[in-house]
Amino acid sequence: MDKMTVRGGKRLKGEVAASGAKNSALKLLFASLLAEGEHVFHNVPELKDVESAMALLESLGCACRREGKTLRIHVKAPKTYEAHYDLVRKMRASILCLGPLLAKYGQAQVSLPGGCAIGTRPIDLHLAAFRAMGADIQLREGYVHAEAGRLKGASILFEFATVGGTENAMMGATLAEGVTTIENAAKEPEIVDLANYLNKMGARITGAGSSIIRVEGVERLRPAEHTVIPDRIETGTLMIAGAITGGEVTVTRCVPLDVDALILKMRESGFKVEHGKDSVTVWGEKGWKGVDVTTAPHPAFPTDLQAQFMALMTVAEGTSVVTETVFENRFMHVTELLRLGADITPKARVAVVRGRPDGLQGAPVMATDLRASASLVLAGLIAKGETTISRIYHLDRGYERMEEKLKGLGADIGRV
Ligand code: UD1
Repeated sequence: MDKMTVRGGKRLKGEVAASGAKNSALKLLFASLLAEGEHVFHNVPELKDVESAMALLESLGCACRREGKTLRIHVKAPKTYEAHYDLVRKMRASILCLGPLLAKYGQAQVSLPGGCAIGTRPIDLHLAAFRAMGADIQLREGYVHAEAGRLKGASILFEFATVGGTENAMMGATLAEGVTTIENAAKEPEIVDLANYLNKMGARITGAGSSIIRVEGVERLRPAEHTVIPDRIETGTLMIAGAITGGEVTVTRCVPLDVDALILKMRESGFKVEHGKDSVTVWGEKGWKGVDVTTAPHPAFPTDLQAQFMALMTVAEGTSVVTETVFENRFMHVTELLRLGADITPKARVAVVRGRPDGLQGAPVMATDLRASASLVLAGLIAKGETTISRIYHLDRGYERMEEKLKGLGADIGRV
């Protein structure tokens, strides 16, 4: 199993381009199930999770062909409506094929994803939305068995602004009879990207990116061509890499507005951050301050950058209080950061980080999930000596060529 080795202390400098957004690409791929024929996606990141999504589509009878960053998906009438446990357990986002299959073919059997390292992550809100649209949903033998005639437009009000729930309901509603309104909808940029693509396919969606989405159901959709938006979490991770090493890093081909919450926190901490239309530059400063951060749905500070920002705070001057409100168990990286010499006290959803500007030393650590692994790489970039991160496959699920990108900026990093 691959391990990553980072020798800390190199100042990162230069330009690096953001890849396509994993969390957008996955949903776009599943949305293609809504229309038979050839769909073309550009800027699709080469990631394990994208491979898992392609494997699921292929298991349903689609043909996927990759040419560099372009992915062609030939969607055919499914030979099965089942998303098997083996595929779903590898990637929870597989639950996002439920809406398209149910809306287009009136049935789907999708394995329940189960828990994951960062929490129990139920899908009750997804299921409630489909029930409101008239689907019969049964849970049997570890699977969601969903059946419907044509879905019916409904008023959906989410208790929590769930990203996946909003996407699933929005996809389901495109082919429903009548109008669906989704209130307390998630507002993440990936939802806007998905709505833009669905509208290219002939859907009638308005309000994506706000808390009320309106979908007027249509009879059928057609295949479309689309370019995946840049990955804001990767953008933010690279910005923090520049900052933590006292370097000067420009992330190009990104959307600065999508990392606004991070830019504000970095400036508050003392970093100089400037952006153009599609690039952001961070200048590392000596003696940045500990600042408090609370994760919450977009446009607030993203939970997917919490672990990386915490790594930055471990070497800040002063104390920082990190509050995680989205997931109940997203401090798995803390015990590993402690191994590197960080001073952090976690309690339930709050972690108090007492910064130690010269305090991190390299050590063997273990990645527990995707973003936690990124935080360990970032900590390794500043730790004295060598940090070896095992279970680095977590990183490969969601970061495209991360080590090459960091090497390009001057990091001393490699795989064993
Ligand atoms: C997506 C992202 C993930 C990100 C998260 C929050 C993808 C593939 N994943 O995950 O990287 O961290 O948004 O920004 O895009 N919940 C329920 N019931 C439900 C659905 C969700 O209780 O039916 C809870 C979850 O357990 C969690 C919270 O709501 O505590 C947020 O989940 P959600 O917004 O749905 O995240 P995902 O779509 O799973």
